[in-house]
Order: sequence, then C-alpha cells, then structure tokens
Amino acid sequence: MFVSLMVFSLLFAGRAICGRFEEEKDEKDYALHYLTQYHYISPTRSGNHNATKAIENFQKFFDLPVTGELDEDTLYQMNKPRCGLPDVDVNGERFKRYATLGKWYKTTLKYYMTYGDDMSHAHQARIMARAFKYWSDAAPRLNFAKTNNVGAANFRISFGRRAHAGVSGERQCGHPFDGPGRVLAHAYFPSDGRIHFDNDERYTETGASSGWWFWKKESQSLLAVAVHEIGHALGLKHSNVKGSIMWPTAKKGTPTLHSDDINGIRSLYG
Ligand SMILES: *[C@@H]1O[C@H](CO)[C@@H](O)[C@H](O)[C@H]1NC(C)=O
Ligand SMILES: [Zn+2]
Ligand SMILES: [Zn+2]
Repeated sequence: MFVSLMVFSLLFAGRAICGRFEEEKDEKDYALHYLTQYHYISPTRSGNHNATKAIENFQKFFDLPVTGELDEDTLYQMNKPRCGLPDVDVNGERFKRYATLGKWYKTTLKYYMTYGDDMSHAHQARIMARAFKYWSDAAPRLNFAKTNNVGAANFRISFGRRAHAGVSGERQCGHPFDGPGRVLAHAYFPSDGRIHFDNDERYTETGASSGWWFWKKESQSLLAVAVHEIGHALGLKHSNVKGSIMWPTAKKGTPTLHSDDINGIRSLYG
C-alpha cells in the first residue's frame, strides 16, 4: 500500500513537473507571438529584435514593473481581451499619449453595417450610433450617418470568425481572428474604412461578468469596443494613457472619453 502510494505520487510529481515545463514553453511561444503581433518586436529589419527590450517596452506601455522578464503580471496582461492592432510603431518603439495615422478630408461620414449574432439588429444599430456619437460630441465638426448603400459608405462594419472577409463583396481580411478571447476586433486607418469585430466573442451592449470558473459567463462591451475601433478608423492609434479609450485592452461598462482621446480627435478634426 505504502509503496504503491509512493509510486503513484512519484508519477504524479513527474507529470506535474513535465506539465509545468510544457506550460512555460507555451507561455514563451505565446509571448513572442504577442510581442511580434503588436510590434514590440519589429516587423522591419532595422527595428528592435531584442526580446528583453521588447518585454521592457511592453511593460512600460502597460505601466507594469519593468523587469524584462515574462513574470506573472506580464503574462496576465498579455492574456487580456484586446484590440488586434499594434501598440508601438514599426521600429518597436513606444508611443507617447495619443498618436495619429491619417485622417479623413471631409467631416460628414457614412457608415454601412452588418451584424453579429448576439443581439437584435435594431439593438446593434443603436449601439453603433451611440458609439459614433462619442466622437462627434468630442469634435462637433464630425457628422455620422448610417447608410444602406455600401457603395456610398466611408466605414464598412462587419462581424466575422477566424479568417474573415468584410461586408459582402469585400476581399478576405489579412488579419485572421483567434476564436473566443484575446483579440476582439480591429479596424483600418483612414481612408480605408473597414471595422471588423470577432464574431466568436459574446457581445452585449456594455459587457458583463458573472459567476466564476466553470460557471463564469462573460460578455464584452460592444459599445466600448466600437468606440475604440471607430477611433482607429478616424485616425487614432493606441495610447499608453491608461484611462483612455485608445488604450489597447478592452474595458467593460459604459465608456467615457479621456482628455487624451479628446485631444487626439481634436488634433485631427478640431
Ligand atoms: C537587449 O536588451 C537588454 C535590455 O534593454 C540589454 O540589457 C541587452 O544588452 C540587449 N542585448 C543586446 C544583444 O543588445
Ligand atoms: Zn485598437
Ligand atoms: Zn479583419
């Protein structure tokens, strides 16, 4: 009895150590993929390719202790639901406050939308109108109107899974989604107009979290994610100001614009 217990516990310990090793390798692979996707490791030859420096820049951007190591805080931050666009420029350097890329040279802009699976079309249309209003309230020269004519639209909003296309007739998007969690959405800078949501997420108007572990029910805030993605489609990049809507990770609840977002949008359309 004693011997078999011991054998059992040795086997068990062996498996646990092995499992932990595999887990660390997976974490490291995921972190390198993440740092590359968000440009902390540069996509260009001349940019940053030092992984330690990339981790440090990631930690600085997200206001974490700068250790240069994949510690618990760092991995936790890397697993949060977020936008799929890069955080830093192609050299792998950090942004300061708001940053912009392109703009529209007119201020009356039309949007065409298709719908996700989670709410009625009328409800989703109301949420999208509410999201656009954040930006026209901050920069009153902007006017947004919904159109049913895709050819007349400046913005084309769609929901898709994994390797997705946009609205009907649009080519395949070059940036596949990743199933539930992690990447929630992405958008293109002016004057492209595409705004894509990951249809593998569960969306409600302002997001919710209830229960725990196996019984945990989570939904993302379509409103908050839409305000963020429309920000990109208007020309705003990610900001390292923690309370801003252009911060890369998703927030639940009813969003508010930070003075950093307002300064950003007014620098383009003020
Ligand atoms: C990589 O970056 C770290 C931290 O910034 C630095 O200490 C190290 O010297 C760099 N390594 C190389 C090969 O440049
Ligand atoms: Zn984003
Ligand atoms: Zn896409």
